[in-house]
Amino acid sequence: MNEVIKNILGRRSIRKYKPEQIAEDTLNAILLAGTYAPSAGGRQSPVMVACQDAGINDRLGKINKAAFNGSISTAQSYISKEQPSIADDVSLKSGFYGAPTVLTLFAPKNFLYSVADCSIAAQNIVLAAHSLGVGSCIVARAEDTFASELGQRLQKEWGISYDYEATIHVTLGYPADDAPPKAKPRKERRIIRVF
Ligand SMILES: Cc1cc2nc3c(=O)[nH]c(=O)nc-3n(C[C@H](O)[C@H](O)[C@H](O)COP(=O)(O)O)c2cc1C
Repeated sequence: MNEVIKNILGRRSIRKYKPEQIAEDTLNAILLAGTYAPSAGGRQSPVMVACQDAGINDRLGKINKAAFNGSISTAQSYISKEQPSIADDVSLKSGFYGAPTVLTLFAPKNFLYSVADCSIAAQNIVLAAHSLGVGSCIVARAEDTFASELGQRLQKEWGISYDYEATIHVTLGYPADDAPPKAKPRKERRIIRVF
């Protein structure tokens, strides 16, 4: 198996981070990978903000968690035992899991492919991160997080037009656990071959 496919298969969502910040050149390489993601019409619509202000990440992470109204996990149905999500462990305080770097991807509000473009950029980012030994987790509810008073204020401070909307977050940091979490078994009947 080649290195790219090994990297894709070996990446897991990481929700337990070391407090140390990721190296600057590593972050730059990860962000560069994000800018090279395919984008609809080649418009390169996503704008990525990498926030390393611990106070801001803490406050936004709490807003992000408060916006979660999905179902809480049960013993039979959970997201991760090894790296619990906010659905698995309600005592977690932040939807960003204390990650030292939090990315927010913005794209134009009135563009049909904004979510697709940001999601694809996010995938480039998490794979690049994994290849460089950085843990990551894609986090939803960016629209709600940035609809908050703080989010709107930051969007202005960061110079991002209100014609743009936050679409997805990616948390980044060095994994706290040496052993990566195990992937769940792949569901059956997800591949259909036609000849
Ligand atoms: C669109 C999307 C949204 C996600 N949102 C969250 C989230 O809000 N919080 C979280 O902890 N994980 C989130 N995840 C990560 C998934 O829970 C994770 O990818 C899934 O459980 C599979 O685990 P793996 O990434 O380790 O293979 C999200 C993933 C995707 C693709």
